[in-house]
Amino acid sequence: MESLLTIAPMLATAAYIVSSLLFILSLAGLSKHESAKGGIVYGVSGMALALVATTFLALTTGWNDPAAQLGLIFLVVGLIIGAAIGLWRARVVEMTGMPELIAILHSFVGVAAVLIGWNGALFDTGTPESFKGIHHAEIFIGVFIGAVTFTGSIVANLKLSAKISSKPLMLPGKNLLNVGALVGFVGLTVWYVITPDISLLIAVTVLALALGWHLVASIGGGDMPVVVSMLNSYSGWAAAAAGFLLNNDLLIVTGALVGSSGAYLSYIMCKAMNRSFISVIAGGFGIAAPSAADEETGEHRETDAASVAELLRNATSVVITPGYGMAVAQAQYPVADLAARLREKGVNVRFGIHPVAGRLPGHMNVLLAEAKVPYDIVDEMDEINEDFATTSVVLVIGANDTVNPAAAEDPSSPIAGMPVLRVWEAENVIVFKRSMASGYAGVQNPLFFRENAAMLFGDAKQKVEDILRAL
Ligand code: TAP
Repeated sequence: MESLLTIAPMLATAAYIVSSLLFILSLAGLSKHESAKGGIVYGVSGMALALVATTFLALTTGWNDPAAQLGLIFLVVGLIIGAAIGLWRARVVEMTGMPELIAILHSFVGVAAVLIGWNGALFDTGTPESFKGIHHAEIFIGVFIGAVTFTGSIVANLKLSAKISSKPLMLPGKNLLNVGALVGFVGLTVWYVITPDISLLIAVTVLALALGWHLVASIGGGDMPVVVSMLNSYSGWAAAAAGFLLNNDLLIVTGALVGSSGAYLSYIMCKAMNRSFISVIAGGFGIAAPSAADEETGEHRETDAASVAELLRNATSVVITPGYGMAVAQAQYPVADLAARLREKGVNVRFGIHPVAGRLPGHMNVLLAEAKVPYDIVDEMDEINEDFATTSVVLVIGANDTVNPAAAEDPSSPIAGMPVLRVWEAENVIVFKRSMASGYAGVQNPLFFRENAAMLFGDAKQKVEDILRAL
């Protein structure tokens, strides 16, 4: 037993190195469709090994100490409860609920970093005098990033689950508030390093909680995909900061991997959506208050399933642009049947997929693959945008923001500049939705009032089935 206790830290370090390598392999695997499953296996194996190694280390370190033994009981009970809840949530979550689940998981990382920081401040026993300044700075940085991640992720969860409005919060002087909070953080950190008073830690915790809330509340619905990956990055940096405090190399490496890959993903998404990276990470810095964008701007025309079937019978080319509503209605199966039926009749049918259609990257591609739509008729936005002008009929199935002409034509629109599917250039556009309600970004869609557009109101699945019957 004695020898096991002596070599336990070395064994744990070796396991941590293997875990780090598995996490790197996981990221590499997840970057391509073909290797994604393997990437998940590497990630799960790395995490399982890390958990076993950490529990083993805690077990051997606390073997003879009654206080540590109590901690061990907490650790094991926490692991069992956490794993049970995690497994249950992952099994029952709908695909449309995935982003909000991810957001809430990020908030756990944030709160863990805050608690670790506070623990480091309240129960600091072993830090040598010469390292005290660094230790105090680590506490402050960990608590700050953790608290911003915590409240920011909670707001993201509330927005994504539609429990609060997805419109950007426009407090007067919002940019000044954000910059002021950052300056306040730097000032408080210097003060705390010189005089480590607990009231300063309370102040920075409150400041960071408020900043996290404000940063994400200020961002409009259209930019939420970037916010989720940005919070992913923040949660990584929070974990890395906790790693420094706990002297845990694996946490530092893993945190840095999550932090940097999340930041890079946010950057790529911003480029794809023509957004300023700095503006989004700074809580919508420089984005003006929306104009009266959610007011109706004209008369819309309604149609019915029989008329749409007639239109499709005479069409030579049809493009289907699915969105979040197709996922909600689970309409992908009748939509795939409709595409197959039209193709049998010699109609050229294709799908146009916007990069942020739905609620998670690749959402529409997954649904269409589920319904066995052939890959070669599924085109990305850039591949299909030129072809709308020569298309007879576009079927917009539960999409809204991703087909909004205001993004291309109205510089005062909150989604101005975001690339969209230019469906309005087609001869006829049929919009499947249940009402005139706006999309996720909370912006009214002028497409609905165009002369070549008609609304087919109702649940998308039911309406597509009605069209199939009429055909
Ligand atoms: P949205 O703009 O969200 O619009 C979806 C439309 O579907 C709604 O207008 C809704 O209108 C309709 N709908 C809902 N349930 C329906 C049903 N059962 N049958 C028929 N229609 C239904 O969709 P989008 O065009 O896919 O755009 C996605 C938005 O989400 C973008 O703003 C994007 O930035 C944001 N977002 C994307 C992601 C990622 S990574 N993809 C993550 C977070 C946020 P009714 O209520 O009138 O039916």
